[in-house]
Amino acid sequence: MKGGDVSKMFFTNTDKKGRLICIVGPDGVGKTSVIKEIHSFLQKNHFKTMLTREPGGVPASEDIRNIIFKYDIDPITECLLFASARRENVVKNLMPALNEGKIVLLDRYFHCSLVYQGIVGGVGYDKVFEINKLVIENCMPDVTIILDLDSEIAMKRICNNNSDRVNNRFDTMDKDYHEKIRMGYLSLKDKLPNVYVVNANQSLNKVVNDCLFIIERFL
Ligand code: TYD
Repeated sequence: MKGGDVSKMFFTNTDKKGRLICIVGPDGVGKTSVIKEIHSFLQKNHFKTMLTREPGGVPASEDIRNIIFKYDIDPITECLLFASARRENVVKNLMPALNEGKIVLLDRYFHCSLVYQGIVGGVGYDKVFEINKLVIENCMPDVTIILDLDSEIAMKRICNNNSDRVNNRFDTMDKDYHEKIRMGYLSLKDKLPNVYVVNANQSLNKVVNDCLFIIERFL
C-alpha cells in the first residue's frame, strides 16, 4: 500500500466536536497574515475559535522551537523535535478546544514535517507520517489550505519582510530548496484528503476570500 493510501485511511473517522482548519505553505507566502484575517472573520461571525501556530502554541513548544532554530541539527532530530513540540500543542490546546466545539485555526501542522523533513529533508514521507500518527491521534484536519506562490516571489517577500518576524535558517536556503518545498506541498493534494490549493499571488483580501469560500463548506 502506498503512503498516500495509508494516509487517506487514517484521515477518515473522527469523533471530535469542533473543526480543525490548517493553513500551510512555503515560507514567504503570507500564511500568518491570511490566518489572522480568517480568524477575525470567524470571530466577527460569533464562532468560538482558537488560533495557534507551530512550532509553538504552549511554553514547552516555544522552547523547543528556539532549540530547532538555534542549532543546525540532523533531519531526524529535527523531525522528532517538531513532533514533540506538536504533541504538546495537540494535547494542551487542540484536543481541549476541539472537544469544546471550537474552530481551531492552525498556522502550520504535521504537513510541514511531511514536506520539510520527510520529502525534502530526506527522512522519508512514510516515516514522518508514522511518527505524526502517534503525535496527532484523532486531531485530523477537517480542511487544509496550501497557500501557493512562485518560489522567486516568495523569496523576495522574505527578503523585504518588514514585520517583527525574524528570518530563520529555513528562510535563507537557496531557490532550489524553496522550489522543492513548494513542489512537496503541492504533492500533498494527492496524498491527503480535503487539501485545497489557493493562489497566494493575489491581494490579501482576495486570498482570504478564496480561503473562506473553501472553509465555509466545512463549518
Ligand atoms: P516560522 O517562523 O514559524 O515560519 P512562518 O512564520 O513562515 O510560519 O518558521 C517555521 C519554520 O519551520 C518554517 O521554515 C518551516 C519549518 N517547519 C518544519 O521544517 N517542519 C515542521 O514540522 C514545521 C511545523 C515547521
